[in-house]
Amino acid sequence: MSTIIYAHRGASKQAPENTMPAFELAYELGADGIETDVQLTKDNIPVLIHDENLRRTTNGAGFVQDHTYEELKMLDAGYWHSDKYRHTVIPALDDLLEWNQDKQLKLNIELKNNLIEYPNLEKIVCEKVKTYNMDSNVVISSFNRKSLKEITKLKYDIPTALLTSKRSNSLIEDGKQLGVDGLHIRYRLLSRKLVEKAAENKLYIAVYTVNQPFSLSRVIKNKCHALFTDVPDTAISVRNRLT
Ligand code: G3P
Ligand code: MG
Repeated sequence: MSTIIYAHRGASKQAPENTMPAFELAYELGADGIETDVQLTKDNIPVLIHDENLRRTTNGAGFVQDHTYEELKMLDAGYWHSDKYRHTVIPALDDLLEWNQDKQLKLNIELKNNLIEYPNLEKIVCEKVKTYNMDSNVVISSFNRKSLKEITKLKYDIPTALLTSKRSNSLIEDGKQLGVDGLHIRYRLLSRKLVEKAAENKLYIAVYTVNQPFSLSRVIKNKCHALFTDVPDTAISVRNRLT
């Protein structure tokens, strides 16, 4: 099977990252899946936003965890990108899962709990995935190893992946110990040897964040399981050319 193309935070070059318009555009452009980041509000609602702080991608201030969902819904998460996306709201995980009911795209839900530990985030997200019957579409990833261990312990039977940006000789062993299905690695860590060694150990390799045609082509030629890109249309043309 050819490399799966995930739109990273949605089609995040052309539309504001982690918003419904970015997800919609990813779908229209033909991406196989969507990658998104999840955090918890003060009232424990899982919302889709990359940074712990609201400053970069909204007109709000302070931390996601210090606001209720109702408060976050008042913010504009699109104006910073372009005028066209003024008044775009921060989506809840429910919005994406509901929207995907009739589309059935693959979803990579990244638990953004490497800086802030959200109590019960693992259980809350897994329960949502089950509620919407999305188990077979979803892979849950995280840089936070404690969190991945927690998911394995909860036995939800939803695929998981370890995210890493650091070179390490123990990466494969770490993945096996954690009981994850895949390793989501930063592009600069990619080597043929790693892909082969991972496969021998029944782990898949997915690569982030790949936007340039040369790098996209390298990932696909190395038969990586998946890639994450801000430009799914470019990735699709590169894949079409190669397959
Ligand atoms: O899941 C791949 C990638 O999104 C991880 O890094 O910082 O873009 O969430 P980041
Ligand atoms: Mg991410």
